[in-house]
This record gives sequence, structure tokens and C-alpha cells, in this order.
Amino acid sequence: MNINNIHGATTPFYLYDTALLRTTLDAINTEVKRIPNLHVHYAVKANAHPCVLAEILKAGLGIDCVSGGEIQTVLDAGFDPAKIVFAGVGKADWEIRLALEAGIFCFNVESKEELEVISQIAVECGKVAPVCLRINPDVGAHTHSHITTGRAEDKFGIAMEDMEYVIGLCALLPNIEFLGLHLHIGSQILEMEDFIALAHRTNELQDRLEQQGIKLRIINIGGGLGVDYDDPNNNPVPNFHDYFAVWAEHLKLRPGQELHCEPGRAIVAQCGSLITRVLYVKEGHEQKFVIVDAGMTELIRPALYGARHKIENITATQNLRLTDWLFPATDTAVYDVVGPICESTDVFAEDIVLPVTRRGDLIAIRSAGAYGETMASCYNCRPLPKGFTIDDLSDTDA
Ligand code: LLP
Repeated sequence: MNINNIHGATTPFYLYDTALLRTTLDAINTEVKRIPNLHVHYAVKANAHPCVLAEILKAGLGIDCVSGGEIQTVLDAGFDPAKIVFAGVGKADWEIRLALEAGIFCFNVESKEELEVISQIAVECGKVAPVCLRINPDVGAHTHSHITTGRAEDKFGIAMEDMEYVIGLCALLPNIEFLGLHLHIGSQILEMEDFIALAHRTNELQDRLEQQGIKLRIINIGGGLGVDYDDPNNNPVPNFHDYFAVWAEHLKLRPGQELHCEPGRAIVAQCGSLITRVLYVKEGHEQKFVIVDAGMTELIRPALYGARHKIENITATQNLRLTDWLFPATDTAVYDVVGPICESTDVFAEDIVLPVTRRGDLIAIRSAGAYGETMASCYNCRPLPKGFTIDDLSDTDA
């Protein structure tokens, strides 16, 4: 990244590397070509910045939405409604209506109660609602408990015991077309074993249904592939090959059956950094604090999940004063990097080694392209952060 270009921009802001995003999308599309009948729906909850959506549209991916707002956003961005899937445990009536009127590909239905409401609204609109049932596979994942979704005690999906009953309901309720199953076990999953367990569970469920003469047109295995937060420079593109190999090897797709998936983080995390400026370096008695102008309002992941992002001082060497050259002290120091918000969890990192850091330095908080800008808030009446591409900032001062 050319830091001269971003020197004059008003911090904090998100910076997106669209070239890396394109490389990542190419890597996915290489796998898509390898596996017949594979359909990728980008989970737009991870990042809905227009420049990101434009690249994803160009790459030909579909979209996974979880709200009416997301559906409207991607329709406005030019995505084909016939490639949109719509999940979420609490779809409001207006959101269901919007999705039906737009003609989305599929509702991922999370309860029989929701199915009944979709049927009613579909009748009112004179539409047929295509649905997959989200089954809770009771498969745990090795990830943070707050982003695990597939255990029996999680709020998501329909219990496996109720699967046949709700499929039966699809046939009874008017204006419902049953397409298949949707399963998702969580996010930031790096152990392929977890996905293999999901593939085996899916096979069991499919065998069980087949014995009852129930055929599935679609299997949707959700999202969840993780990224390397510790070393984004050496692992900028997630290992899509191993991920898709899991499904190719372990999932017993039937002839003509479609495989759908919904990656979010894996596509966009590494292409975004949160750029923030050092306001103060506070020398405590036992600890040095780098206080930056971004906080949990711009990036809530550390405060919410204890997530740790790689932090780089991208201007330290530029801000050195003459005395620093003449009488160099230590090159590095140990810091806590914290934000300005009035919450003790507003901490980006503890005890990390950085080049000696000063007021005015620019800090990059890496791997922030997923669940960064989309989860920003206005707490403390702070303005929402803007997002730029590297190209934007080389053209103008932001
Ligand atoms: N499909 C469903 C049904 C989901 O619930 C999610 C994410 C995805 C796909 C996309 O998952 P991904 O490929 O991005 O892992 N805010 C949290 C992550 C929450 C994920 C919610 N569901 C974080 O910052 O880590």
C-alpha cells in the first residue's frame, strides 16, 4: 500500500484493496469451474460497500441476504434477484413481501412459524415462495461461541427431529415450493474437520429423506470459512481449494443436485484495513497506551468477540524527528492499542510490539474488510466511518 496516498485522508476510515478482492474472487471462480453445479452467494452482511459489491457483481456471484435492507441494497447495486437467497430467524412481513415481489431465488426458512407467514404473504401477493429449510445440524465448530450457529441449543434453524414434519408442511401450505436444505454451522472456521462433520451430517439427513421418497434439488452448506488474522500478508487469499475439496470428497450430491454456499468473511476480510491515527501515546506506570482515533464504533469485533487483528504502524519511520536519528532509542516498544470510546472493552490489542509510535502516526488494523464497516455504530454520537479504495485516495484527498 502506498502510504503517501492516504496521508491526507481524514481518519478513521476503511481502506479497500480491490486488486486483492479481485484475486480472491478469481480464486473462488477457479473452484466454481471445477465443481459442477456449484453456486456461490456472497454473504453481504460481511461488507456492503459499493466498491466491494461492484467487484462481486462483476465476478458473477449471487448474494446471501439477511434483511430487507440488504435485499434492497443488492438490487440497487444491480444483482440479479434470481441469484439472491434470504436467511434470518426473524424475517418481517415487509421483508418477505419485498423478497417475493423481487422474485428472489430462495428463502432459507428457519421455523414452521415463519413458513406459515411466508405462505400467507405469498398468497396475498399472488406469488410462489421457493424455500429451503434451514436445519440445525447439531454440529459444533471450533470457533468463538458467539459465532457458532449449528448446535442444538442455538436459535437458528429447524431441529433435525422436526425436518420431515416441516417438509410435509411445505407440501400442504399454499404457494410454497420446497427446494431443499440449508445448513450453516458458524463463522471463522479454519478446521476442515468441522466442515467434514457437516458434510457427513448432511449425507445422513439426505439418506433419511430419500428413504421416505423425498428428493432435494438444492443443498446449501452456508458460509463459515475463516481467514488468517495473524498473518494476512502471507495468507491474503483463504484456502478455497481445501474448503471446496471437502464438499467434493465428502458430500454425496445426487445427480443434477445443486450445491450452494454463502461465504462472506473469506471473500472480503483480507482486502480491508481500518486506518486510524494516533492521538496520544500515554505513558502509564506499567503500560504504554497508543490511543487511536478509531474505536469499537468503527470495528466492534475485538470488543464483542475478543477478536485480535494484526496492527501495523504504517508511518512510524516517516514521522521520526531529527533527534530520533541522532540519538536513536529503542526501535520498538510494547503497547496496548486502545480506542477513544468510554468503554473498557474498547481495546484493539494488548501488549503488542510496534515500532516506537508517536502522535500523528497512521495505524492499519488489518483483515477488517469483513464485519468491520457493516457493524459500525454511532455510539458516542460519532459519525459512521467512510470506506475508500486505494484508487479513490490516489485520485483525491478524502
Ligand atoms: N450464511 C449464514 C446463514 C450466516 O449466518 C453467515 C454468517 C454466513 C452465511 C456468512 O458466514 P461467513 O462466511 O462470513 O463466516 N460478526 C461476526 C460474524 C457473524 C457471522 C454471522 N453469520 C464476526 O465479526 O466474526
